[in-house]
Amino acid sequence: MYATEFLDLPPLQAAAGTVRLPGSKSISNRLLLLAGLSEGRTVLHDLLDSDDTRVMIAALRQLGCSIAPQDGGLCVIGLGGRLTVTQAQLFLGNAGTAMRPLCAALALLSGLQGGEFEVSGVARMHERPIGDLVDALRGVGCRIDYLGNEGYPPLRLAGGAPRLGPPIRVRGDVSSQFLTALLLALPLLSEQGPVVVEVQGELISKPYIEITLNLLQRFGIPIEREEWRRFTIPAGSRYRSPGHVHVEGDASSASYFVALGALAADAARPLRIEGVGSESIQGDIRFVEAAQAMGAIVQQGPNWLEVWRGAWPLKALDLDCNHIPDAAMTLAVMALYADGPTRLRNIASWRVKETDRIAAMATELRKLGAQVNEGPDFIEVHPIAANGWRPAAIHTYDDHRVAMCFSLAAFNRLAGAAPGAPVRILDPKCVAKTFPDYFETLFGVAKAELADIPVITIDGPTASGKGTLASEVAKALGYHLLDSGALYRATALAALDAGIPADDEASLARLAAGLQLRFDDQRIELAGRDVTDALRREEVGLLASRVSAHAAVREALRDLQLSFRRLPGLVADGRDMGTVIFPDAALKVFLTASAATRAERRHKQLISKGISTTIADLRQDLEARDARDRSRSAAPLKPAEDAVSLDNSALSIEESVQQVLAWWQQRRPV
Ligand code: DC
Repeated sequence: MYATEFLDLPPLQAAAGTVRLPGSKSISNRLLLLAGLSEGRTVLHDLLDSDDTRVMIAALRQLGCSIAPQDGGLCVIGLGGRLTVTQAQLFLGNAGTAMRPLCAALALLSGLQGGEFEVSGVARMHERPIGDLVDALRGVGCRIDYLGNEGYPPLRLAGGAPRLGPPIRVRGDVSSQFLTALLLALPLLSEQGPVVVEVQGELISKPYIEITLNLLQRFGIPIEREEWRRFTIPAGSRYRSPGHVHVEGDASSASYFVALGALAADAARPLRIEGVGSESIQGDIRFVEAAQAMGAIVQQGPNWLEVWRGAWPLKALDLDCNHIPDAAMTLAVMALYADGPTRLRNIASWRVKETDRIAAMATELRKLGAQVNEGPDFIEVHPIAANGWRPAAIHTYDDHRVAMCFSLAAFNRLAGAAPGAPVRILDPKCVAKTFPDYFETLFGVAKAELADIPVITIDGPTASGKGTLASEVAKALGYHLLDSGALYRATALAALDAGIPADDEASLARLAAGLQLRFDDQRIELAGRDVTDALRREEVGLLASRVSAHAAVREALRDLQLSFRRLPGLVADGRDMGTVIFPDAALKVFLTASAATRAERRHKQLISKGISTTIADLRQDLEARDARDRSRSAAPLKPAEDAVSLDNSALSIEESVQQVLAWWQQRRPV
């Protein structure tokens, strides 16, 4: 997951490969609740691991369910419909799929068995309506108090005496989650007789109700449906665990990759999406039809899709999106690449989701240069002309779907934008709600021109602090990191192990070319062994300095270094990053510090490792090494002509990082 302040997407041009989708949020949270209400064990396989499922799991644990990994899945031991914990305060984040059904279940359970529960969420959750659900539950005699604003969470669910009476009525035109919540929870009342729920107003997002009915059926509760108006839960219904349940991939998450295929994949190498297909029970799978209408070519099997571009520009669309409310946001970004204005209708529910999605989409699409018209329940998006694309920093409103669908705007070069407008996604970690690895997955299949993948180089003498600086800058930008010194050190370590002398250039070069190196977060492995600490040894550093003077060794390590240039970008530190390896780097920093400062820093480092030396010795050593690195004929240490110098003798690490980020900002205005 990218926990950075922002993530810059360079111009992207193509897509190919295979994507494996995370589990469906809607299915995961419904299954968790059903398993929690059932008696005995349910093992859930391929459950989504995200913010929304975590709050549900935490809440169920607070209520006394035992939940633990088992057989490669997650085993839930349910309550069997009986409360063991009768008081709890549950925090449900911004998860509507946890808030609504848990409210209904706890209102009924506390009413039938006694108990008092408080449910709350983040500020946005307290702006998302729940009054219609509360009214329906109060109608059967549950006692529910608003703890903040009337009609919105937080709530107290405090008993009452629920009794079956006339049909329970609920509005269906604000959020289908109210009906889902009732259908999931009302079997608790069916000991008193058949429970009838009637929908008032036009029911929106019907496919989500289909998921609810389908999953209830799997837990032994067949609900009778008359049109979309009347639902009957049979008398004496009990939640019965099916034992093992598999969660299919998230069809809403699939929409970004279906769109990606339509924009940027070709028939020879389609984009393959695994986890959903023709047998999906999720309504958003019908996004595929909308994408086809815009020009996508889609082949599908029970559990997979393959997508490629069929029309270009895409074909504009006028569509009632009530059946695919979440995935339809993706259409709004595809519309930027269409042959005319696209109108998405019947989407009033967008206004009460994670954010007011109609307003959010309109505002952010305009930043890119689009003309957008919006109304209470529609949005109309005009395509952007080749010369109309503008670099934009996309505000994401803590809404995962805004972040994900706007990543598709980075393909603007395909629409003729030259040189291509970079797209900045602010607060990219908001995707954790449903798809924590979204951007990693995107970068796994999206292609950019090598020259478009930005590189920042940080060169300088030993102990100047470039390693720390590079690693902090990489972290702030979400970029990959190349510590090129580690490659020379690894060559030196391997030479020590193999007994190859420092002047045997040909053997050293062969050794360097065959290094089996693996970089894993902060650790480095050489031929399967963790050498992170060994590489930092003084004798290894000294030998590295000699080994690296050989032109053949440097040549042998070149391709490996170049291979670090991957999406979304790279920070590389060393001696010749800006001069030899990445001469086209967008920002080159030459980092220096006085010899005295560097000797002191190295001294502190060694002391902390329990190695005793004197500052004077270290300084002599450093200066000797600098002299060798500077005077060698192969890639001598020197600033690139277009490098900016930074003397950090008197700067803190934080100050140096801020300086480099400020220079970066000047070069990449969004
Ligand atoms: O940065 P460092 O101390 O880990 O580097 C170890 C040695 O490798 C150093 O003495 C010089 C050499 N080196 C190099 O020649 N070119 C690079 N790009 C990086 C390091």
